[in-house]
Amino acid sequence: LMPNNLLIEGRDSGVQVLTLNRPEALNALNTELLGELSEALDNAEVDPEIRAVVLTGSQKAFAAGADVDEMASRDLVGILEDPRVAHWERIARFTKPMIAAINGFALGGGCELAMHADIMIAGENARFGQPEINLGIMPGAGGTQRLVRKVGESLAMHMALTGEPIDAKRALQAGLISEICQPELTLERAIQIGHSIASKAPIAVRLTKESVRKANDMSLADGQRFERHAFTILAGTADRQEGLAAFREKRKPRFTGQ
Ligand code: CAA
Repeated sequence: LMPNNLLIEGRDSGVQVLTLNRPEALNALNTELLGELSEALDNAEVDPEIRAVVLTGSQKAFAAGADVDEMASRDLVGILEDPRVAHWERIARFTKPMIAAINGFALGGGCELAMHADIMIAGENARFGQPEINLGIMPGAGGTQRLVRKVGESLAMHMALTGEPIDAKRALQAGLISEICQPELTLERAIQIGHSIASKAPIAVRLTKESVRKANDMSLADGQRFERHAFTILAGTADRQEGLAAFREKRKPRFTGQ
């Protein structure tokens, strides 16, 4: 089934590009879009050709938040039983590297979605914010949790309590994003990062992502034990032998994912 709000491209190159495509609402994340996105990631998860995913929107908006009209139609029980929660969980548990290429507005659920990516890069025109407080609500898809881990408590409180957005420069300074680009080059740069990752040993990439993620969930001692176990597992891979041999033989490695 073709998605209505998502463009899916690039599979054969190893880097799948998912473009949020709901221009009439600045890519506001309605449940249909979120479902299409989580399904695309489920497919990418099991497709061995796909080694990294780039998530992007338009030049004007990555995504301007949850769909306010849809949200207004849900009462307490509707929010409690919201199918969106399951979609967010599927996005969060994606094991392959995900790079967000952000131009324009990344507000509310849009900022929360961008923060689900492993690497965030943005155009100079990007604006990040959690404006839910202006609507009498609050972030509900990780906006208070991931933001504080990424930018620290003071700026996270400032953003979530005032709703004021920050620009790309401030986001870089705060550690929310890793690079700023000219807006017309953001996507190209994200794809380039994807190809760089796609050229590495897949099991090493997978365990590296998992290990870095653990740093947010574990004590230093437990996280370091996890890292050591992952490092040990890699000793059983053919790609480790190949990587070490290629270095010593001064040639490019040929990784097979074994
Ligand atoms: N939901 C639904 N529709 C939205 C939307 C949203 N979040 N954001 C923008 N749109 C729609 C507008 O209603 C408008 O539609 P019409 O042309 O039919 O009127 C269209 O997209 C274009 O938007 P604007 O005319 O407002 O464009 P602008 O350039 O003047 O302003 C903006 C851009 C500052 C981003 C403004 O659209 C805005 O403030 N949007 C809402 C941002 C927001 O509050 N997001 C948080 C949502 S709550 C949330 O996300 C909850 C959660 O975390 C769980």
